Amino acid sequence: MIVGIGIDIVENRRIDENTFNNLKENILTVKEKEVLLTKKGKKKLEYLCGRFAGKEAVIKAIGDKEILNMKEIEILNRENGKPYVILKDYNILISISHEKNYTVAEAIVLKEE
Ligand SMILES: CC(C)(COP(=O)(O)OP(=O)(O)OC[C@H]1O[C@@H](n2cnc3c(N)ncnc32)[C@H](O)[C@@H]1OP(=O)(O)O)[C@@H](O)C(=O)NCCC(=O)NCCS
Repeated sequence: MIVGIGIDIVENRRIDENTFNNLKENILTVKEKEVLLTKKGKKKLEYLCGRFAGKEAVIKAIGDKEILNMKEIEILNRENGKPYVILKDYNILISISHEKNYTVAEAIVLKEE
């Protein structure tokens, strides 16, 4: 059963070098930072924006501010690229998309009926 949905959009160019470094330290988990290191060129910014939009979408989908630390939410990718969320006590689906200037993410919270 779906119990929550959340969506978020990030304008990529608003993430300047300073903001990039702050977000990297403040929102990425250790594993996400390892993945970021493998990204080159514009893929680096896309990756960070994807995690940021994704985590904002997850927080909206949960619907209250009980998740205060974005590092509690981990968004990784399967071998085929499909993203998935790891967050204690929650079953969450996520989708992320990048365009030249924007990144959007949508999250859905599921609960057993
Ligand atoms: C995977 C695919 C859907 C990504 O779409 P895209 O338009 O290239 O790129 P987008 O920016 O919209 O999406 C990228 C995000 O999709 C997600 N993604 C990647 N592979 C995915 C998959 N197999 N399933 C679901 N989501 C996927 C990721 O979250 C990725 O962002 P991230 O790497 O930052 O996490 C696309 O490449 C694809 O394989 N399409 C199938 C059809 C096809 O091959 N068309 C080409 C010939 S017409």
